[in-house]
Amino acid sequence: MSAVDNRGGGSPESRLLEVEDLHVEFRSKDGTANVLNGVSYHVDAGETLAVLGESGSGKSVTAQTVMGILDTPPGFVTGGSIRYRGEEMLTAGEERRRELRGENMAMIFQDALSALNPVFTVGFQIAEQFRFRRGMSRKDAMAKAAEMLDMVKIPNAKQRVKEFPHQFSGGMRQRVMIAMSLALDPDLLIADEPTTALDVTVQAQIMDLLDELRRERGMGLILITHDLGVVAEVADRISVMYAGRVVEKADAHSLYKQPGHPYTEGLMESIPRLDMKGHELASIQGLPPTLTNIPPGCPFHPRCHRAEDACREKVPEFHDLGLGRASACHFAEELISRD
Ligand SMILES: Nc1ncnc2c1ncn2[C@@H]1O[C@H](COP(=O)(O)OP(=O)(O)OP(=O)(O)O)[C@@H](O)[C@H]1O
Ligand code: SF4
Ligand SMILES: [Mg+2]
Repeated sequence: MSAVDNRGGGSPESRLLEVEDLHVEFRSKDGTANVLNGVSYHVDAGETLAVLGESGSGKSVTAQTVMGILDTPPGFVTGGSIRYRGEEMLTAGEERRRELRGENMAMIFQDALSALNPVFTVGFQIAEQFRFRRGMSRKDAMAKAAEMLDMVKIPNAKQRVKEFPHQFSGGMRQRVMIAMSLALDPDLLIADEPTTALDVTVQAQIMDLLDELRRERGMGLILITHDLGVVAEVADRISVMYAGRVVEKADAHSLYKQPGHPYTEGLMESIPRLDMKGHELASIQGLPPTLTNIPPGCPFHPRCHRAEDACREKVPEFHDLGLGRASACHFAEELISRD
């Protein structure tokens, strides 16, 4: 079966990552910030999960915790589970986590320039992984590095391995980062806003490349982004985060057609329906809560135009809306059955 046929299949063999009820807090002298308050999501082989949400909703902290690179202290995991191919990551030792990083799961970041070392050629930086993790000779490792640059469609790869990061444009640097993250052939890739620093045309090219690589390699891709246009084009499923929780999850088509949570609705509002590319999430009135003092009841209630008394008192449960869709709103069923 091809990787594409596997999309969202959800069989035990294709389930790459399962995050369940993840809790993370950041402690400081000013108090404890409840940054993740029960995040759950999963990704299967060959599919793209998009993670959406305003700044501070916990998208990157979740990704860092999955990768085992959470800044501890001040960040502490206080509950939940992260299973990679069924293996619990939160109790795996640091050695095992290191072994899995790069080989099995990799992450690319928004800012390729600061992630690359300016004093080494890009070839050297990619080749390091082949030398230290695969025991290759310097020459063979450089040849592999050139192959990787070629794979991410950097023209004239054999020459360009010898160049330094500053000699590459922003888009080309991001391609280098993708090459570096895929060097050891991971089956799970987390891309944390991989295109925000780039102009719109280059963003589209990088997204097309990631999508193509995902398809060719049967990788699971977690795409963290603010760009709804990108999400509409490439995501199979979407998880929407608010104040450290997933508040709605759905396949991309259903979510765009009819959001099942007022927060998702807010994010989608005022987005031009045609040519959405490059449009940021709409701003919703008010601000996300201070994570040291999350409001009682539904955390979204101070900003929600649908809020009723119950919303101020009772934390909404996750309502199962069928076909893998769910929403943490008291009125979820009503919302999706509107005309
Ligand atoms: N190292 C840290 N120390 C203290 N607080 C942190 C740290 N890293 C993240 N946080 C806090 O955790 C919360 C969630 O941050 P996170 O970076 O996950 O948000 P995000 O959803 O990725 O936002 P953005 O869209 O801006 O990238 C924020 O309130 C942030 O201030
Ligand atoms: S539970 Fe109430 S406040 Fe929360 S999103 Fe739904 S309607 Fe709004
Ligand atoms: Mg982030």
